[in-house]
Amino acid sequence: MIWNKDIFKEMVKVAIRSPSVHNVQPWKVRYTETGFQLFQSIKRRLHVGDPKLHDNDVSLGAFLELCRMHLKTSGLQFSVTSNNAEKYLDYVSRFNLTISECEPETDRLYSYINQRRSYRGLFDFDSSFDSNLLASINIDHLKIKWMTGPVETKKWAKLYDHASSEINQIPGYFKELTDWIRFNKNDPKYFEDGLNAEALSLNNTDALFGKILFRVSVFKTLAALKMDKFLITEAPQILSSQGIIAIYVDKNLTSLEMGACFARFWLELTSRGLYGCPLSALVDFTHTKDILNSLKPSNDTICLNVLRFGKVSDESKIYHSPRLDVSRVII
Ligand SMILES: Cc1cc2nc3c(=O)[nH]c(=O)nc-3n(C[C@H](O)[C@H](O)[C@H](O)COP(=O)(O)O)c2cc1C
Repeated sequence: MIWNKDIFKEMVKVAIRSPSVHNVQPWKVRYTETGFQLFQSIKRRLHVGDPKLHDNDVSLGAFLELCRMHLKTSGLQFSVTSNNAEKYLDYVSRFNLTISECEPETDRLYSYINQRRSYRGLFDFDSSFDSNLLASINIDHLKIKWMTGPVETKKWAKLYDHASSEINQIPGYFKELTDWIRFNKNDPKYFEDGLNAEALSLNNTDALFGKILFRVSVFKTLAALKMDKFLITEAPQILSSQGIIAIYVDKNLTSLEMGACFARFWLELTSRGLYGCPLSALVDFTHTKDILNSLKPSNDTICLNVLRFGKVSDESKIYHSPRLDVSRVII
């Protein structure tokens, strides 16, 4: 297959289903005759929550992995060279991708790209769940550790709420988070990016309460009264899950390579009929990060993220989160 603009657009259409932190969708792409350029949007980054651009790059890496999977089906592959952060409009050029031909092959995870989602509602606990299902996950440079059962979920729910509460105290963090939360369907960005009410599994009443309570002033008052956990708790969702999975990756990988591993892991989960939701606060907060690192399978790995996971019998409950139109991703 010869590289052309139509293949490029098809690739972007598939890759935008990639997960990204807060659904910021940091990626912008530009077609070139020999491949494409990957840019990072200056406006779509989290200055407080992700100052070193680690989650941003994990998101870009996941996006590129989906590009790679799509191109392979058309007998194309790319090699990546980094770019010296050349500025173009509101974007920073990060990588140049050069396309060449290869044997066409459909990745066995390809068909799950559209099915993979973050699920933030309650799971349907399956008492006959066989965690050996996870033992067959085999991804280069990645190892997982799962902790299942009521004792573990209770322990991690408590740790998570504590970590989340601490992270939310970082000046500017809560404001930045709420900038990406969309409670109101009239918000012009409701169906474009960020975390809308459906993506957060909120019904109309919850969304209305969210709109009133998720304000910096309310949060600060609740935090001062040590009542902020009532607002941000994810304990019910964690307690309803089969358990949590900690993902460990080779520490020498770049954030971009970690993103590719993360995307593949999540697709593996989807292929097993399981849904998940990252619990990044556990790796962002020092105390819980230390606990996770004390559980690491080998010294040359670090904990990349943690997901709660489980089954959802009524798949209509699982929302397809919004994305920017392809025309706004291509520059
Ligand atoms: C690096 C990274 C970290 C994330 N951390 C969280 C998190 O802590 N909590 C959460 O609810 N979702 C988290 N997510 C999931 C994104 O919010 C989600 O991918 C995005 O909203 C798009 O939705 P989708 O996964 O359903 O396609 C994270 C995603 C990435 C790539």
